[in-house]
Amino acid sequence: MTQIKTDILVLGSGIAGLTFAIKTAKQLPDRQIMVLTKTNEGESNTRYAQGGVAAVWNVEKDNFDKHIADTLDAGDGLCKEDIVRIVVEEGPERVREIIEWGARFDKEKELDVYDLAREGGHSENRILHFKDFTGWEIQRTLMEEAMKFDNIKVLEHYFALDFITQHHLGRMVIRVTPNIECYGCYALNKQNNSIETILSRVTICCTGGGGQVYKSTTNPIIATGDGVAMAYRAKGRVENMEFMQFHPTALYNPAGENPSFLVSEAVRGHGAILKNEVGEAFMQEYDPRLSLAPRDIVARAIDAEMKKRGTDCMYLDCRHLDHDDFLAHFPTIYDKCLEMGVNPMKSMIPVVPACHYMCGGILVDAVGRSSIHRLYAAGESSSTGLHGANRLASNSLLEALVFAHRISDDVFKHIGAWTIEDRIPDWNAEGTTDPQEMVLITQGIKELKEIMSYYVGIVRSNLRLKRALDRLYLLYQETEELYRTSTISPQLMELRNLITIAYLITRSATHRRESRGLHFTTDYPGQLEFKEFSIL
Ligand code: FAD
Ligand code: SIN
Repeated sequence: MTQIKTDILVLGSGIAGLTFAIKTAKQLPDRQIMVLTKTNEGESNTRYAQGGVAAVWNVEKDNFDKHIADTLDAGDGLCKEDIVRIVVEEGPERVREIIEWGARFDKEKELDVYDLAREGGHSENRILHFKDFTGWEIQRTLMEEAMKFDNIKVLEHYFALDFITQHHLGRMVIRVTPNIECYGCYALNKQNNSIETILSRVTICCTGGGGQVYKSTTNPIIATGDGVAMAYRAKGRVENMEFMQFHPTALYNPAGENPSFLVSEAVRGHGAILKNEVGEAFMQEYDPRLSLAPRDIVARAIDAEMKKRGTDCMYLDCRHLDHDDFLAHFPTIYDKCLEMGVNPMKSMIPVVPACHYMCGGILVDAVGRSSIHRLYAAGESSSTGLHGANRLASNSLLEALVFAHRISDDVFKHIGAWTIEDRIPDWNAEGTTDPQEMVLITQGIKELKEIMSYYVGIVRSNLRLKRALDRLYLLYQETEELYRTSTISPQLMELRNLITIAYLITRSATHRRESRGLHFTTDYPGQLEFKEFSIL
């Protein structure tokens, strides 16, 4: 079997992984950086980002304190204030850097100032965007910049399976073992189906979120929470997993679509209004900020209205907006609506909430270090404390930029002290054969999504959570049996990882005996005074 050595191993080629790789390649030109990505380099949650990056830009109107206050307000008491300050204050500098690397953001007509958009929960216009495909513009920029460095090697179609720790040297590792160390990972080379041992001085986990745990999600199919599940299996600490964010406005498609197409919150920032099927606005009953209240509030309001009125969706009314202006800002959304037979200038757009963002993840400190030594995490797979119980719109790309930078600086300081552990055994595939019935895996994924969508969705209860845990346990046992006897495949690993993510969400939700941010339970509708992070 193949053993590969590299100084620095990065898992994931979205905004967090590539930004870290570029910064580190500049700081450490003599160190080799290997980026693994499970499909092609450009496929990530990052590339689908629509709204943009939040940053204090127009200092005549906006300031850090306002952005901090908005982030804390959305986070509903669970943000770590020092982290919020770091991200908000360092953010503009990080955005300036990607502009220097070639990222374009829209400017106001005939003016040399950025056209700053507004999204839910923001008290000022502060979202830098490139039409409604900001994510693709950032992904393109980062891929082009990364190509300039000889010491960055991107391995496409490499699926990371497990982090390597002392456990693989035959030592007992449990969650409270002090000084767990990461020596790299095992990865499936999908091109020749071999499992390779990749050893490194340090590993950075940037594998993104896990929205695919729900039936309806805006996340692409790669978003299966792999890094978080791997860190949890390696006995790392994970926190705040009950806070899965549902975006209020995914395009309603009666035929079903995976992923669901997002109708950016920036459309509401542009003046669109949420209405019911007979054209009545309803947000005044839920929040004085109306259609631009934070996401948890708007998603719950839509869910409640749909249940009250017995309808499959609510609507976004854009008919009063200027046609050319709408088209200039939202060309992708406009085209997609037309493709679905809805002209946004003539009919209301049907929308439903869909799972969108994982606020929790691998617990990290202010420089991105996880509880496992030599394992860092950034981006959606990490939990830095920025988002608390609910992420403020467009703070995710910003967080990834800031933490990629901070991790790069910390790795620069410490890499000299880290060596490569080369006594690691090859992956043990003894006793496994090709699975005879792929249907066991595909059906397992379907069942998992049903369980999570019905019992651990926007509104929860003790009974629903208990039922979910019981069902998940059965699925877990069946899948582990399949894992012990089957040749490894990405599908099987994704099912295992999704079960772990589902378990982490449901267990954290069970522990939280209150309703806060994105976690709402009918058994405890109020909030406790004592504010607790749910660390597993
Ligand atoms: P990703 O960009 O998801 O990258 C993950 C990478 O890890 C991928 O390359 C993937 O292939 C790789 N990977 C995963 N598992 C493995 C494995 N086992 N082995 C090897 N590689 C693996 N946020 C904002 O701030 N503003 C927005 O406007 C915005 N709009 C959004 C719109 C949509 C439709 C979606 C889905 C999200 C949006 N978000 C937005 C959220 C934001 O895009 C993501 O949180 C962010 O891009 C995550 O970046 P990341 O680098 O952490 O992960
Ligand atoms: C959107 O454009 O509505 C998504 C923004 C985000 O998730 O931050």
